[in-house]
Amino acid sequence: MNDPVTASAPAHDVAPPLWLLAELTYRCPLHCVFCYNPVDYTRHHRELDTAQWIDVLRQARELGAAQLGFSGGEPLLRDDLETLVAEARALGFYTNLLTSGVGLTDARLDALKQAGLDHIQLSFQDSTQELNDFLSHTRTFDLKKRVADSIKQHGFPMVLNCVLHRYNLPHVDKIIDMALAMGAEYLELANTQYYGWAQINRAHLLPTREQLEAAEATVERYRQSIGSRCKIFFVVPDYFERRPKRCMNGWGAVFLGVAPDGVALPCHTARSLPGLVFPNVTEVPLREIWYDSPAFNRFRGFDWMKEPCRSCSEKTVDLGGCRCQAFLLTGDAANADPVCDKSPMHEQVVQIVRAAEARERESEHPILFRNDASSRRLAACAPGDADDAGDGREAGRER
Ligand code: FES
Repeated sequence: MNDPVTASAPAHDVAPPLWLLAELTYRCPLHCVFCYNPVDYTRHHRELDTAQWIDVLRQARELGAAQLGFSGGEPLLRDDLETLVAEARALGFYTNLLTSGVGLTDARLDALKQAGLDHIQLSFQDSTQELNDFLSHTRTFDLKKRVADSIKQHGFPMVLNCVLHRYNLPHVDKIIDMALAMGAEYLELANTQYYGWAQINRAHLLPTREQLEAAEATVERYRQSIGSRCKIFFVVPDYFERRPKRCMNGWGAVFLGVAPDGVALPCHTARSLPGLVFPNVTEVPLREIWYDSPAFNRFRGFDWMKEPCRSCSEKTVDLGGCRCQAFLLTGDAANADPVCDKSPMHEQVVQIVRAAEARERESEHPILFRNDASSRRLAACAPGDADDAGDGREAGRER
């Protein structure tokens, strides 16, 4: 196996990134139980300033990135968002704002329109006020509905995003009805991927196979009846599959994320992987990070693979699955993703699904809302570097 710190693929084998995700801040007014931000996000409290973000945008565009997502946390908590959108527009990016809607006033919508924002993705937690507000631990449902209306009045194309799990899967028809009533052009029904806070709350969130099959049938029925009025994406939950997802379309292949503190990442959750040092954009040029850094080269190509992936005829299809999931479930990011039934550790995933069916583990701990106090507590238990020590996250597939 290659050395995790020094392994490096030749730059000429590597295509440029297509998609830049600028995670402007980990701060967020919501407390979602499935948030994909790192559970120890309070360790990484520094944020790039406006000039540093503009430099990142310029470098990424020069590299070839064409799509840009402004994300977080809640990106509207940055009062320079409009400045960054305008800069991105001038550079020729197609820009998308991923937001909870909190803080998206008419004045800011006007300013974002003027700055040239192309697209808005608005998250809902459910079609009911009760569940939406429970899962985010806020009273935001009515506000989100007003924001959805304002987004359409300002003429933005809108993706409505709803993360699916045991609680809201039975409401899929109502969620689709809500998206249609709001005039969303796209609806992303993203079954929970179990990283970050969702991993901690997995016993609460993991659905039954029966729930999933019913939801998928509902989605298919709607697709037949609504035609092109609203495009519905259904991101499948891979614990229920026999082959792993082609995560991020490959490590360091198309996706470049920059965390609030400037750490560059090949996926949302990579900074939790041990043995990898992800460079910071304030210290290393983006081109060098993308093409030459050991961390971005660590899982490119096929040389890093162990058996059974190394000799598998399907390795070019799924690329061995998700590195973060392999680490979370087997303790080694270079193992086959155990979602694959060829993995010697696949039985572990089968057991997790069985336990969810039987609801055996829900009493392990109460559901944990994302908040600073919980993050600090979890950070205190976890190894790793913090900002103060000078350290340097839709990983799904659709049907
Ligand atoms: Fe990190 Fe899949 S989420 S490789």
